[in-house]
This record gives sequence, C-alpha cells and structure tokens, in this order.
Amino acid sequence: MSRFVVRASGPLSGTVEVSGATKNSGLKQMAAALLVPGVTRLRNMPRVSDLDVMAELLRAIGARVELAPDNEVVIDASNGLQPEAPYELVTRMRASINVLGPLLARCGEARVALPGGDNIGSRKVDMHLRGFEAMGAEIDVRHGFVHARAAQLAGARVVLEFPSVGATENLMTAAVLAKGTTVIDNAAREPEIADLAAFLNRMGGQVVGAGTATIEIEGVEELAPVDSAIMADRVEAGTLLMACGIAGGEIELVGTRLEHIEIVVMKLGEMGMRVSPTPDGLWARCDTRLSAVDVATLPHPGFATDFMPLAVALLAVANGTAIVTENVYDGRFQFVDELVRMGADVRTEGRHAIVRGVGRLSGAPVSASDVRAGAALTLAGLAADGETVVHDCHHVDRGYADLPGKLRSLGADVTSC
Ligand code: EPU
Repeated sequence: MSRFVVRASGPLSGTVEVSGATKNSGLKQMAAALLVPGVTRLRNMPRVSDLDVMAELLRAIGARVELAPDNEVVIDASNGLQPEAPYELVTRMRASINVLGPLLARCGEARVALPGGDNIGSRKVDMHLRGFEAMGAEIDVRHGFVHARAAQLAGARVVLEFPSVGATENLMTAAVLAKGTTVIDNAAREPEIADLAAFLNRMGGQVVGAGTATIEIEGVEELAPVDSAIMADRVEAGTLLMACGIAGGEIELVGTRLEHIEIVVMKLGEMGMRVSPTPDGLWARCDTRLSAVDVATLPHPGFATDFMPLAVALLAVANGTAIVTENVYDGRFQFVDELVRMGADVRTEGRHAIVRGVGRLSGAPVSASDVRAGAALTLAGLAADGETVVHDCHHVDRGYADLPGKLRSLGADVTSC
C-alpha cells in the first residue's frame, strides 16, 4: 500500500507542466472508443491507476488495448465485443458505467454491474437509466446488474434532474449513433464534457452545445476512428495552486486554462493570493497568510466538489473562520477527522464544515479515504511541523500522475514509498 511522506520545506518555486486529465476526461473517451470498429489513439494520457482498470474493462469487453509509450493509449474495438462489464471492475471504478451507452449504441445491448456508493457518498445512476429509457431502451435492473436493450436507440429529449457529469457523458455518447435528434437539457457543463464532445465530433459525430446546459446531438450512421489528445487536468492544476497557497511561494503552471478553474482562482484571489493567466497557463504567488472565505460546491461553473477537500486543508491554516458547504455528495467530509488529527480545527454538521484557521498544523500519520482527500492531507503536510505520513495513497494514484513528483519539482519535500 503506497504512502506519501511529507515534511514542510518552505515556499514553493518553479514551473510544472500540468498532466493530461486521464481520470476525469480520458477514461470517458476510452469508453467512447467502443463506438467505433477501428483503432482509436488517445494521447496525453498519463498512467494513473484508474487507466489500468479501464484498460482491463475494455479488454474484458473484447477490445484490444495497448498502453503505448509517451502516454498514448491505443484501443482497437474492431470486432468481437462482449457487451458485459463485470462487477469486479465496476466496483473498483465508477467510471466503468460509461461503457453502458457506447455498448448499447454499438451492440444493441449491455449488461453492466451497478456501481455502489463509495467513500464520498451514494452515487446513483438513475438519471443515466431514465435517459436511456427515454431513448427507447428497455432497462432491467436485477441481481446487481443493469441489463439494457435497444435494437436501435432513438433520439429523444432528456431533461436531467441534476446536471450529472456521468449521465450527460453516457447519454451524449450513445446519442451519437441514435436515430434522430437527442436533446439533453440541464446537461452538465464541465470542461470534460466539451472535451468528450470534441472527440465525438472528430470521429464524425454531430454534437452541438457541449459546455452549455443544452446539448443537441444529431445521430449519424457510423463513426471513424481518430487520433486525439486529452485536455489538461484542471483538478491537478487547482491542487498545485492550493499547494502554493498552503506553503507560500511563486509557481507557474503550463498547459492549464483559467476558464477551467475560474471560481477557484477567484476564491484564491479573495483569500489574498495572486493568480494570473500567462500565454501558456497560470502564474501564482502567495507571500502572506491567506484570509478565510466561505466556499460552497456546485456543478460547473461553480466551485467544483473535487476541490473541496483541498480548500478545507487550505482554510485550516488560513486566518479566520470559514463555512464550507458540500452540495454535490452526501459523504465527502470523511477526511476531516484525519485533518483534525493534524491539529486542524474543523467541525462538520451535515453538509457544512466550519473551519477555524489555526496557522500551523502538526505532522501525523493519517489515512486517505479518496483521491482528493489524500491530496488534501498531503498538502496539509506542507504546513505541518514534523513529518506527515499519508497512508492509503493508492487512492491518490487513481487520479494524479505522480503528485509527489509534481510537488517535489516545485521544491516540496514529499516522497512516495
Ligand atoms: N447522481 C444521481 N443520479 C445519477 C447520477 C448522479 O443521483 O444518475 C448524483 C450522484 O450521486 C452525486 C451527484 O449526482 O451525488 C454528482 O454525480 P455526477 O454524475 O455529476 O458525477 P460522476 O460523473 O459520477 C464525475 C467525476 C467526479 C466528480 C463529479 C462531479 C469522473 C470519473 N468522476 O463523477 O470526480 O466529483 O463528476 O464533478 O469524472 C474526483 O475526481 O475526485 C471525482 C469524484
């Protein structure tokens, strides 16, 4: 089981290139490659551990997947697909549900294990299923599996109850090969949705409006395989900015875009940090103890829930008291108890956390409960006296491509063992 060992080592300094968003964007494009009988190449896909799970899943389905050099992934879904996603893989990674749409569209049926909840809360798929039903699929949920059938999906108007990222992606992907026009209303507007739509359009899909609340997809008869690059990881970029807020210093991030993390940058500005766009990415400087601000998570373009644990770590050492409200997941404050073990003053009540900044934390052995919780505890270690050992960092490696290495390249003392 991997652990990160962190010691405070003063302000950060330097330039780092932000990795591709394998987990939150690339995996969905791997799933969408199942739509095409041909060889798809995806570039800028660093080797996070969820990539191995998606590769295993696509192989179980019958695709040939090669993790090629230079962060390239090659998927050959030419023939022989078995439209079934086994429990062992779905339970390891929720993004497995993203194969449901492509399999249904390509094979006319799919049998996918139901993902359960996880360490950040209950994570249902009802909106995915209602959307496929609206598109004419017959859905049968039994014995822990979803069995979906539709000889030919038909375009439909789907109104999502909540702008779910996964439901928007799954429905949009399947709709590309449906007969007629699909409109997804109250669609998620995350940049990863626009990245997926651009990929589908490169293959010959007709998707308009991705990145807005209404996406219109005109079904096409067939798609062609393409060679495509994944967007930069905005959560990694935000994580490194927060690291700079916690440790102080001056850093430059190459490859990221301000408009992908605008609210995070705005909040950091309100706290007293300077962040501005550069021709290649973002520049940030923090030479003072930051002031507390309230934070409430919301779907994009609001403050993303994936930044919330990092924000709590930052607020734990800021000046003043902040109220943090988590509106997306019902169990994402689990990591708070670990932060409290490091001397943070945080109290949670339902969807809220009250964070009283204490200035300095105290290094301790702690445990990561999910990917962002582990990153938050690692960052907290940068402002803690003594040594912090973050256990269970396999969670962090699911989504970050070598977070310790990235922090080290900015002068931090973080090692992985
Ligand atoms: N929801 C439902 N029914 C559904 C779908 C979602 O009730 O049919 C609820 C979920 O239970 C949850 C909320 O809606 O409370 C948001 O879920 P959403 O579908 O938007 O999230 P997701 O697609 O499962 C992706 C990211 C998450 C990120 C969310 C929100 C990936 C692989 N995962 O999950 O990333 O938090 O969008 O932005 O892209 C992370 O990176 O740490 C992470 C958890």
